[in-house]
Amino acid sequence: MATVKEVAARAEVSVGTVSNVLSGAARVSCARRERVLAAIRELGYQPNHIARSLKLRQTMTLGMIVSDITNPFFSQLVRGAEEAALEANYLLLTFNTDDHVDREKQVLAVLRARRVDGILLVVAPAPNSDYAHVNETIEMRTPVVCLDRVPPGIKVDSVTVDNVAAARRCVQHLLERGHRRIGIITGSPLLETARQRLLGYRKALAEAGIPFDSGLVRQGDFRTRSGYQLGRELLASTRRPTAVFVSNGLMAIGLLKAVEELGLQCPRDVAIATFDDMPWAEGFRPHLTTVAQPAYEMGYRGAKLLMQRIASRETAAPPTKIRLHAELKIAESTSLPLRARGLRHTLRA
Ligand code: RIB
Repeated sequence: MATVKEVAARAEVSVGTVSNVLSGAARVSCARRERVLAAIRELGYQPNHIARSLKLRQTMTLGMIVSDITNPFFSQLVRGAEEAALEANYLLLTFNTDDHVDREKQVLAVLRARRVDGILLVVAPAPNSDYAHVNETIEMRTPVVCLDRVPPGIKVDSVTVDNVAAARRCVQHLLERGHRRIGIITGSPLLETARQRLLGYRKALAEAGIPFDSGLVRQGDFRTRSGYQLGRELLASTRRPTAVFVSNGLMAIGLLKAVEELGLQCPRDVAIATFDDMPWAEGFRPHLTTVAQPAYEMGYRGAKLLMQRIASRETAAPPTKIRLHAELKIAESTSLPLRARGLRHTLRA
């Protein structure tokens, strides 16, 4: 196995120049850089990252903890973070918690033990909002950037969207379509995103002078099955809602299954609006009205922020909070104004 000294001799440069070409830590002339790269190829040199890590006290590795990578939102989040990491020659290690906080604690401990240089974290629901384990990680001087969900009471860098405003705008769109009995299927109230989207729903109703009806609220878990089961409950009731706001895309898919099983149609019998862009949902009808979150950009910007924090070594600096824009994309699932539906029924009779 060739050594860095043999590469330096072959390229007729110093060992330090070879290290600078490998790390990008300092500028190297094009001519010298080309000689070093040629020597590495000819000798088949492989840098010893373990030795380099010990010397530089950096592993060039980031950890990333998400809820469930099979959810399109999180897979896009990871893709964005991976892109930014690779651009800077960082390795990204990704883990799923399935929204179990004990798993989150376990993975954080493993990542700290492996000396990752920083961690991107989408927190799991924690009873009593107990996120002391996140604080401990930060206090152990491992930089953390929280994505999508910010644990309450923790001073941490974050990249999020304004869930309250986006949910409020989504429900206002249903109100503009003439709906007054609007149901909601939420995520776990232990999650900030779920709480904020419920708050946006309540704000929109209050501004329209519509009393909040707890009978129109169902608490899900951001997974398809809960959207299906709770959707059946909501729509099987005698005075079913004419529209449902679903707090995430996977639960909306479950609701659509319930609509079909009950012999109903969207938007004819029930309008549906949700969160999360799901590219594969474009292959089904109706196309869903949704708040499209910039998940890829959220992951990319989060990784960039984390690497800046690592380079500055200022883990105690005031948190940076990046707020991205979420766009309401209106589609077929809310295309029918309520009054038009009544007219069509009358004409059909
Ligand atoms: O689909 C998962 C949901 O949980 C997304 O809406 C994302 O915001 C996360 O909070």
